[in-house]
Amino acid sequence: MRKKYAAGNWKMNKTFEEGQILLSEVVNMVKDELTHPNVQVVLGVPFPYLSTFSKLVDTPKVALAAQNCYPKASGAYTGEVSVPMLKSVGVKYVIIGHSERREYFAESDAFIAEKVDAILAEGLTPIFCCGETLSQREAGIHFDFVKGQLTNSLFHLSEEAIQQVVIAYEPIWAIGTGVTASSDQAQEMHKVLRDHLASKYGAAVAEEISILYGGSVNAGNAEELFSQPDVDGGLVGGASLKSRDFTDISKSFP
Ligand code: G3P
Repeated sequence: MRKKYAAGNWKMNKTFEEGQILLSEVVNMVKDELTHPNVQVVLGVPFPYLSTFSKLVDTPKVALAAQNCYPKASGAYTGEVSVPMLKSVGVKYVIIGHSERREYFAESDAFIAEKVDAILAEGLTPIFCCGETLSQREAGIHFDFVKGQLTNSLFHLSEEAIQQVVIAYEPIWAIGTGVTASSDQAQEMHKVLRDHLASKYGAAVAEEISILYGGSVNAGNAEELFSQPDVDGGLVGGASLKSRDFTDISKSFP
């Protein structure tokens, strides 16, 4: 059975003290309220907090994620953070290829592929982000564009390795806008991506890969989104900064 995820991406928000409060609220709410046996809560917090926060998470229901990584294991890369560093402070997941990094830091599919390899080499789980712009959707090229992101960054992986990857489809036009993809739009793209994975790795492997939706997920729309057959959870930005909303989202699975 595919793993379900309620993943939060705090992005560049919360001071350390504010983050400690949010983390403890979410951990305590999830411990008390999340009873679904197949849902993993993941919190993507700012780099500087990871070491301390990993000591504060006292339940396997919650895991921490970094919001990025550099693909080299060590060296003269000022300001960067390697996967071995993340692993050494207890990080289990790494969000990569987020549209904001692709846009603001010119991250290419090939560079993201290197990050995927570095994360898998350390036994951590990549949360691989993909998604189209509004103009690409309006031009009708969104399916081919997003399939191309998977082909370029993931399809070099072995059958065993691809099964360690979590995919997050985040239509760029839905990120931070309050304009959420409809559940039909989300399901349509997720099915296209799962079929694309099947074309490379076979249906049985594709069926086991978790595909999350991201883009203005909130406590009001999560249940309908997560009820879709090929939607395996959400990658949540703004709503992950509110402990009650994010916990409710984590409880929205069928
Ligand atoms: O990575 C998740 C993020 O891009 C979605 O942001 O605020 O639309 O939930 P938001």
